[in-house]
Amino acid sequence: MKKNAVSYFLVIIFTFLLIRCQSIPKSKNMTNKEKTEALLAKMTLVEKIGQLNMYNGSWEFTGPVPPDNNSQQKLEDIKSGKVGGMLNVLTAQSTREAQKLAVENSRLGIPLIFGYDVVHGYKTMLPIPLAQAASWDLEMARLGSEVAAREAAAAGLHWTFAPMIDVSRDARWGRIMESAGEDTYLTSVMGKAWIEGFQGKDMSSEKTIAACAKHFAAYGFAEAGRDYNTVDIGKNTLFNVVLPPFKAASEAGVATFMNAFNDINGIPSTGSEFLQREILKGKWAFEGMVVSDWGSIGEMITHGYAADSLQAAKIAIQAGSDMDMESHIYLNNLEKLVKDGKVSENLIDDAVRRILKLKFDLGLFDDPYRYSDSEREKNELLSEKNLQAARKVAQGTMVLLKNENSLLPIKAEVKKIAIIGDLAQNKDIPLGSWRGQAISNSAISLKEGIEAAISNSQKTEFAQGYKLTEGTRDFLHELTFANPNDRSGFAEAVKIAQNADLVIMALGEDCYQTGEGRSQTSLELKGNQLELLDEILKVNKNVVAVLMTGRPVVIPSVAQKVPAILQAWFAGSQAGNAIADVLFGKYNPSGKLPVSFPRHTGQVPLYYAQKNTGRPITNEWDKGLVFWSHYTDMPNTPQWCFGFGLSYTTFDYQNFSVKTAPKKVFVSVDIKNTGNYKGKETVQVYIRDIHATAVQPIKRLVAFEQTELEIGETKTLRFELTEKELGFYHQDYRFYAESGFFDIMVGTNAEQLLQQRVMVEF
Ligand code: NOJ
Repeated sequence: MKKNAVSYFLVIIFTFLLIRCQSIPKSKNMTNKEKTEALLAKMTLVEKIGQLNMYNGSWEFTGPVPPDNNSQQKLEDIKSGKVGGMLNVLTAQSTREAQKLAVENSRLGIPLIFGYDVVHGYKTMLPIPLAQAASWDLEMARLGSEVAAREAAAAGLHWTFAPMIDVSRDARWGRIMESAGEDTYLTSVMGKAWIEGFQGKDMSSEKTIAACAKHFAAYGFAEAGRDYNTVDIGKNTLFNVVLPPFKAASEAGVATFMNAFNDINGIPSTGSEFLQREILKGKWAFEGMVVSDWGSIGEMITHGYAADSLQAAKIAIQAGSDMDMESHIYLNNLEKLVKDGKVSENLIDDAVRRILKLKFDLGLFDDPYRYSDSEREKNELLSEKNLQAARKVAQGTMVLLKNENSLLPIKAEVKKIAIIGDLAQNKDIPLGSWRGQAISNSAISLKEGIEAAISNSQKTEFAQGYKLTEGTRDFLHELTFANPNDRSGFAEAVKIAQNADLVIMALGEDCYQTGEGRSQTSLELKGNQLELLDEILKVNKNVVAVLMTGRPVVIPSVAQKVPAILQAWFAGSQAGNAIADVLFGKYNPSGKLPVSFPRHTGQVPLYYAQKNTGRPITNEWDKGLVFWSHYTDMPNTPQWCFGFGLSYTTFDYQNFSVKTAPKKVFVSVDIKNTGNYKGKETVQVYIRDIHATAVQPIKRLVAFEQTELEIGETKTLRFELTEKELGFYHQDYRFYAESGFFDIMVGTNAEQLLQQRVMVEF
């Protein structure tokens, strides 16, 4: 009897192993698509639905914990093949352990895919995405995400939920820090570069991970800049502003898309068949997979769009959301829906196919543990190579906003430097929000960077002056700001400023003022930092303001009173060194704003690519008439416009020429370095379609090129514009250009442009 039981048991084990060995197609002669089909054919409905289910590991949360969260149940579900992917499972060891549960226990042994928000680095922090966009340097953007991918992959991750390519025009929205800013073209090319950096040429390499274009779509247009809020935009904006970066991402071969929390024109993005089936998987023929945002399938009930979980599951799967992130709704409802004939199994197959194919592409079926390598993890994370890359990327992100009397770079004659501000000594804030596994307080502070950069004959003194926040600061909780009436640090700061040749004052935000769930009604600087600045200016006018922010801020008084201003964003692990490189002239600043900096919060959403209105401001403005599209208390223009950024040298634009041929425009311009430093200029090309069947922006960026010039050197840059640059999407989503007059503009930012009007025939 006993013997019988043992043999019975052995037969079961043997059969189980046999099924598994035979179930994963490994033949070298089969394509990944063929392998996917072969595996799919062996799966039961429950196993298929399991692949669509993504659980959060209990290790870390990046969203609200679902009410039915139960770790033990999750474990059992992994073992029985009811989980396709996980997020927030970290380290080579933990991913290996979790993988083992799936591979060794489930009937088919299908590996899990591990995803994580590797937004601007895993352990080594690169500058935040908005800062990277300010570099306009695609090579550096690629390098940044290459570093992030190498580290994440070494820690067992397969997939990042990045890049975020939501065009962001409302700086109140905290997630603007994750974006490439206000412009569609810049976002498109930056997004492509980030994707190329993450995925490399071969996604199955242990150094690359799958990328995710998010959030599809229009999340950046949340009404009033309030996170998760409703979005109401017309087709014109959707097709011409919001969607092009996503189309570019799809064309760049991004492996996955994430849909969005927001409803758009009344339909939650997660449940939008129009966006996901018609546009993404239809017109763009995207073959990758779509993951929901955290709990967004379930949130369709809260939106008031789905009556219950059953309906939410039906809507989402029909709309083309392939994987359910932490709603648990697919797992609990899809089987019933299929059995009741409410959802076709073909829809489930389509989603599973996309997920399995990705797992094959990542090489997970060849070796499910290939990414989980503790040795590689030890060597890769925070390696010298990665830190050096972080410094290099950060240098290019700095934007010089003002430099009266060439106060910068800091001259050898400057002997005593006063460093002032809470932000100057802070080693945590420069790491930014969405900081992966960065070690708290591990950034090089501004103070440390300056101390390392000064010569033997230069000295520094430091005073904190103001305090920004107090208490707990982390990704999950609200911030507590310090008492704005506390001036206890002012006297010391003023004293060291009085004795200094130059004051470097750090101003800005806590990094947790931006990121998810961090919208603000005001873009002004918090606390009493500006009050202290005024006190400092009374005793020393030689002030350099170093701004650390994750969004454009409103600082008219700083703009007016401070002679030199450097926008340094949250520049990552090497922030202090990179800022010092710029302050001391080791790196000539080359960054350009990827977003307009408003004069007043009331101006937002503020962006350069506005439409003209029927009543634009003209000279009539001077005559004091009110019937123009304007504010009565503030100019329409920004403090600093899109594309703006100074250098220590100067550039002249000469010999601007525009020629046309049918369907083409040829632009050429000479750029001369007329200053005293070698420098890099970003030459920007804008167009305006003067008269079209839909009102067009007064200008829109269509191309740019960076060029480095020696002192006195001149280079000729040429651009060819075709229908791709001169056309636009019409109401029926057809893209074409219309014959007629176009203004062609070239220059150093969105406001200082040379311009010629030409006729182009299409
Ligand atoms: C919610 C965010 O909107 C999304 O961007 C992120 O990837 C997920 N949470 C996972 O953390």
